[in-house]
Amino acid sequence: MRLVSGVQPVSALHLGHYLGALRDQVSAQNDNDCYYFVADYHALTNVRSDPRVLQEEVLHVATAYLACGLDPDISALYRQSDVPEVGELYWILTTMTPLGLLDRATSFKSARVRSQSVDAGLYMYPVLQAADVLLLGGEEVPVGQDQLQHIEICRDIARRFNSRYGDVLTIPVPRLTSRPFVPGTNGEKMSRIHSNTIDLFATDDAIRARVNQIDTDSISADAPKVADTNTVYYLYKLIASESDAARLADRFTAGVRYSEAKATLADALIELTRDLRERYDELSRDRSYVLSVLGRGAERARTLAVQRMDAVRRACGFGTPETTA
Ligand code: TRP
Repeated sequence: MRLVSGVQPVSALHLGHYLGALRDQVSAQNDNDCYYFVADYHALTNVRSDPRVLQEEVLHVATAYLACGLDPDISALYRQSDVPEVGELYWILTTMTPLGLLDRATSFKSARVRSQSVDAGLYMYPVLQAADVLLLGGEEVPVGQDQLQHIEICRDIARRFNSRYGDVLTIPVPRLTSRPFVPGTNGEKMSRIHSNTIDLFATDDAIRARVNQIDTDSISADAPKVADTNTVYYLYKLIASESDAARLADRFTAGVRYSEAKATLADALIELTRDLRERYDELSRDRSYVLSVLGRGAERARTLAVQRMDAVRRACGFGTPETTA
């Protein structure tokens, strides 16, 4: 299967990114043809003014994918803006996207609620996302739960294109990553907006400090506790083996001290991320290598993009007629 997925450039990837998407995306490369990109065009929908920051964030995310095991000899990793054909397809798709479809996008609706002034870029966000996938002929799109609506919109737009112009675009299906919900330190979905993140490449001490900040209730230290509604336990269960998770659940029932449960979680997190961080630090010292990976990835992606755009342009009636009578 050809897999296409994007990730927004950010200054620090966190555990939610890793457990929620990255880990599965990387392991999918073993039996799929993966194209993953850093969505720097999309990133402009968060107000930005310093170009260097965006470049650094792109590099951070690319380095992180490599550190987490993405093999650039197998998968293509690229920067969205290195494949500018996406902008052309995007325009064409806007002409067959009903406004009602975009009005219903929850990403747009929630931005509306947060802020009075919403720009057209944010409104069009799902159309650009659709172009990302359709341009490369993605068959499956590995995403978390929160992106399902965008994939539905993509499918809808692709069907409209095909019913107008014939079977030119591949209709993709979402491929839900296996861990849809990763809670942050306050129990809400882990996200920079909620200031509840645990950074993926944090030092051991920083991980311990963050884990100690996880909200817990004030049940007395030795009293029995419910594991299932506890964020410490929930996070542990996401990363531990079944038997280890069962052991911690028993400790909760027996009346674990939260400090003990947190130490268990912190140890496991450190264990999980140590190798990733080491590789990340190593790759960070070799920027030219990471840039060369992005260059190679862009070349592979553009090969597909140029072919597909050719078909799209012909279908739409651009260029000179093929037969001259
Ligand atoms: N919207 C996605 C996110 O916020 C990122 C993204 C951009 C994407 N283009 C995509 C994901 C195409 C999948 C396919 O995480």
